[in-house]
Amino acid sequence: HGAAEVLVASNRGPVSYVLDDAGGIAAKRGGGGLVSALSVVEDKLWVCSALSEGDREAVRRGVAEPGVRMLDIDAEVHADAYNGIANSVLWFVHHMLYQTPLEPAFGPEFRRQWASYEAYNRAFAEALAEEAAPGATVVVQDYHLALVPGMLRELRGDLRIGHFSHTPWAPVDYFRMLPDDIAEQVLRGMLGADRCAFLTRRWADAFTDCCTHLVGGTSGTRIGVHGLGADADFLRERAHRDDVEERLAALRAQIGADRKVIVRVDRTELSKNIVRGLQAYELLLESSPEWRERVVHVAFAYPSRQDLAVYRDYTDEVARVAGAINSRFGTEGWTPVVLHVKDDFARSLAAYRIADVALVNPIRDGMNLVAKEVPVVSDDGCVLVLSREAGAYEELAEDALTVNPYDVSGTSRALAEALAMPWDERAERTKRLAAAATALPPGAWFLGQLEALRQG
Ligand code: G6P
Repeated sequence: HGAAEVLVASNRGPVSYVLDDAGGIAAKRGGGGLVSALSVVEDKLWVCSALSEGDREAVRRGVAEPGVRMLDIDAEVHADAYNGIANSVLWFVHHMLYQTPLEPAFGPEFRRQWASYEAYNRAFAEALAEEAAPGATVVVQDYHLALVPGMLRELRGDLRIGHFSHTPWAPVDYFRMLPDDIAEQVLRGMLGADRCAFLTRRWADAFTDCCTHLVGGTSGTRIGVHGLGADADFLRERAHRDDVEERLAALRAQIGADRKVIVRVDRTELSKNIVRGLQAYELLLESSPEWRERVVHVAFAYPSRQDLAVYRDYTDEVARVAGAINSRFGTEGWTPVVLHVKDDFARSLAAYRIADVALVNPIRDGMNLVAKEVPVVSDDGCVLVLSREAGAYEELAEDALTVNPYDVSGTSRALAEALAMPWDERAERTKRLAAAATALPPGAWFLGQLEALRQG
């Protein structure tokens, strides 16, 4: 037995390591939402994967940040599990992204990758079993690690185990696209936890439904919901630092002082529905010529999971469609779409501050924090155009303009309505959106899970 009382397990950890030219190694703390949410509990052990060459070298040299244990899982096993199973199969199932007659096809290649997914999950379960103190609490994160709760339960019957899903959960008719034995293994793996929790009631109910129909029920595992809100204090302070002010001035200069701004910020990833968003904007320019020259669509589309061809192709498609709109409508003094692909949090915050409209139109999304962050940092109020398929919809629908993400015409009409909304209505809505978006601070999200687990 180890000594850790609270353990977190996730594929992506709070730190990454970079090799410098001199052969030295430097730690870089991640700034992701999970990192800030979990910082409310100081004394914890975070078990995560080595993701880069720098990470692997750090593990080999025994370099480790306090409170972090990185697992140097064989690179090919990790690639199969992370790219092949987690971000192709499971991500696609939960976000309902399979659309062509050729996908999915679960044959020998899938079976081979699945064996890696099992090995990768087992490596996590073994590390957790080694590190956990008697009776410790372990919170396992996301679809990468669906089998860990069951495996860990077998190794250590004394632990309190939770699983938290940051994604949607697929409806049973879609979920059972997975081969029967695999669907069962995923559900039973998660049901090894004392409690499985989700971002919204909708995803929790879908999971329960899958259990009821495919494995005869949740076998005593409790099902919970913990919404996750934006971190108001952090965002408001961060959004007014010098680096953000600089980027705000640069963006303003690029856009033009008198133009309205439609902003979107996403990882470039199929569920985010960036292409249909661009099509809706194009339709707006086509059908409402009065907006030409008077609006700019600032799209931040940060590349994600580029080892996979399907994500790379989508990234190319986004750039192609943005370019086509610019060649069709652009004039000497006006670029209709400004596309940024380099990840830059300060620049995203600058865009949030000056946005007149924020477009958040995912096909499906566990929560979507952009929808919650924009109203919090907006300088003059911002209209939120929000997909009804985002988890955030449950909390923000009333004061957003909501859209069916497949309905390009409907999305285009919502953009037009958003641009035309009177200033005072927009300000009122933004105020209410900000209040709803910050009702569940990230720290409370994590503490709530720990408390619920300990009560069981
Ligand atoms: C989603 C998942 C997270 C994941 C993140 C970024 O939000 O729920 O588990 O970390 O995407 O994806 P990546 O593959 O870069 O970790």
